[in-house]
Amino acid sequence: MLLLKLLLSSAAFATALPTPDDSESNHSQPFSWEGLAPWNAGAVNQFPIHSSCNATQRRQIELGLNETITLAEHAKDHILRWRNESEIYRKYFGDRPSMEAIGAFDIVVNGDKKDILFRCDNPDGNCEIEGYAGHWRGENATDETVICNLSYQTRRSLSTMCSLGYTVSESETNTFWAADLLHRLYHVPAIGQNWIDHFADGYEEVIDQAKKNATLSTHDSETLQYFALEVYAYDIAVPGTGCSGVQNEHSHDHADHTTSEATNIQPTPTATSSDAPSTTSEVPANCHTHDGGELHCT
Ligand SMILES: *[C@@H]1O[C@H](CO)[C@@H](O)[C@H](O)[C@H]1NC(C)=O
Ligand SMILES: *[C@@H]1O[C@H](CO)[C@@H](O)[C@H](O)[C@H]1NC(C)=O
Ligand SMILES: *[C@@H]1O[C@H](CO)[C@@H](O)[C@H](O)[C@H]1NC(C)=O
Ligand SMILES: *[C@@H]1O[C@H](CO)[C@@H](O)[C@H](O)[C@H]1NC(C)=O
Ligand SMILES: *[C@@H]1O[C@H](CO)[C@@H](O)[C@H](O)[C@H]1NC(C)=O
Ligand SMILES: *[C@@H]1O[C@H](CO)[C@@H](O)[C@H](O)[C@H]1NC(C)=O
Ligand SMILES: *[C@@H]1O[C@H](CO)[C@@H](O)[C@H](O)[C@H]1NC(C)=O
Ligand SMILES: [Zn+2]
Repeated sequence: MLLLKLLLSSAAFATALPTPDDSESNHSQPFSWEGLAPWNAGAVNQFPIHSSCNATQRRQIELGLNETITLAEHAKDHILRWRNESEIYRKYFGDRPSMEAIGAFDIVVNGDKKDILFRCDNPDGNCEIEGYAGHWRGENATDETVICNLSYQTRRSLSTMCSLGYTVSESETNTFWAADLLHRLYHVPAIGQNWIDHFADGYEEVIDQAKKNATLSTHDSETLQYFALEVYAYDIAVPGTGCSGVQNEHSHDHADHTTSEATNIQPTPTATSSDAPSTTSEVPANCHTHDGGELHCT
């Protein structure tokens, strides 16, 4: 009896379904997709750039963002190929599983770019502060990033990786448009999701964190930047050699250490260093500066 009911009801259900030849319209599928937009309708695949950017500014920001994608994509590919068999992976992410870092790079490459805006005017007045090459607008407009004039003079193309005195450990991550903009994107909620944040500041802390606090490393903004730069240098720019610079083995005594740190903060004669820290400049509320005069706002 129950079986009969089930058979009957499933038969009734089956006849209710349109079949390829019972519909008046010519369809090879049992239902129509007419009038439905594709699932990804309205996707934004290019980073929006505000009308306040003139032609040359727009072009430089676009080239920089394209290099950000190149950098992030290679970082992802390196991890996908080597996982923690990569010495560079273990140096930056310790014993952590690789999926979070892969995702942090992939979202930059393939994530939707709707709620992101780069602008070239100076709505918060921060570009007037000496040493500022740009800033995230924070509470004033959380999706927005301002690029100041100094960026166009100082940021370099990835094609100069491992040249002009640059080394991964001794130079600023914002030497290159690619890593500078990667950092700025991680502040924007659509990309960083308020999950990628600053836990470590500078190369030494990043390396230390991978050993002692590795759970933070795969969503640490600086760690992701340093890792991406180092694998790009080692795999692409100078294959098999890279330019990691002074390695942090802690085998030298503390006095040596202090000396080398003191030397490192001097701008190298060949590098463009107009983004050096400006200790006298005024910092807006909720913001702080990092080495290199980078403005961070929360
Ligand atoms: C149904 O559509 C297909 C492809 O759109 C076409 O080749 C075919 O001739 C159509 N058949 C009829 C009966 O209209
Ligand atoms: C765009 O603006 C910058 C900075 O104000 C200026 O140096 C540059 O000449 C401008 N470019 C054009 C094409 O107007
Ligand atoms: C950046 O990349 C996009 C997509 O590949 C391309 O359409 C655009 O022309 C590039 N922009 C510049 C300035 O090279
Ligand atoms: C590398 O990952 C494997 C799992 O894929 C794990 O068993 C191993 O402990 C990891 N090694 C290190 C040094 O983290
Ligand atoms: C860039 O420089 C130009 C010309 O000196 C100036 O008009 C403009 O306000 C500056 N832009 C920013 C964002 O500081
Ligand atoms: C590890 O994280 C804790 C809390 O987040 C922090 O206080 C500590 O300084 C970190 N240690 C290192 C080596 O980064
Ligand atoms: C937000 O706007 C206020 C008022 O214009 C300004 O003082 C502050 O510096 C801005 N914040 C940021 C992060 O730029
Ligand atoms: Zn930051």
